Amino acid sequence: MSIDFGSLREQYGNIPLELEDLGLDPFSAFNKWFSAALDEGVKEPNAMTLATVDDMGRPDARIVLLKELKEKSFVFYTNYSSSKGQQLEQNKYVCLVFNWLQQERQIRIRGEVERQDSTISETYFQSRPRNSQVAAWSSPQSKTIENRQVLEELVSETELLFNDDDLLPLPPTWGGYKVTPYEIEFWQGRSNRLHDRIKYEKVANEWFAKRLAP
Ligand SMILES: Cc1cc2nc3c(=O)[nH]c(=O)nc-3n(C[C@H](O)[C@H](O)[C@H](O)COP(=O)(O)O)c2cc1C
Repeated sequence: MSIDFGSLREQYGNIPLELEDLGLDPFSAFNKWFSAALDEGVKEPNAMTLATVDDMGRPDARIVLLKELKEKSFVFYTNYSSSKGQQLEQNKYVCLVFNWLQQERQIRIRGEVERQDSTISETYFQSRPRNSQVAAWSSPQSKTIENRQVLEELVSETELLFNDDDLLPLPPTWGGYKVTPYEIEFWQGRSNRLHDRIKYEKVANEWFAKRLAP
């Protein structure tokens, strides 16, 4: 079967985006758009594409979940020994992309990561369901495994290490990364491909906004 990708064509609505709608602070604007996505029932609105670069300068990307926006940083959790973890240890520059098609919106964030303090990661880890904790202890994320059974055996080994009822401690290779942005762009789909784009840039700790051509 051949799929005619070229004929797929969506006409976007015509909700205008003006700087006045977003305001001068891109973090308040992010919260406003995020709340709208939440209120309108977007599934996993906190799912974002995280783009990284490997040690040969080749881009890589995958979805992770935003778990906190605090002190002007976007926080996600992962395995520090995973492919992304290794890439981030070598190159701290990342891009995050949110895409909420129901609202015809995209937010694009460029910034630098640093590891989150382990005491904060520990607090978050303790708030996770026990099964997620077991998975974090068991999975050698991004490593090759022979088959599914290997993963299930690793889970059984983790279960043997800890008491059934206990919550598990923070694994040594698991925790948060904080992304501190230097650019945040808001994109609103408009009719006839004449979309609106407002981009904020941080210069000497102040945010400046400009409009970009679609
Ligand atoms: C909706 C969704 C949410 C995800 N959330 C996370 C997450 O928060 N942290 C994470 O490490 N992986 C998450 N993943 C899995 C990643 O996309 C990826 O497969 C994994 O982190 C391994 O990536 P890496 O090999 O590039 O390190 C999520 C995947 C999807 C589809």
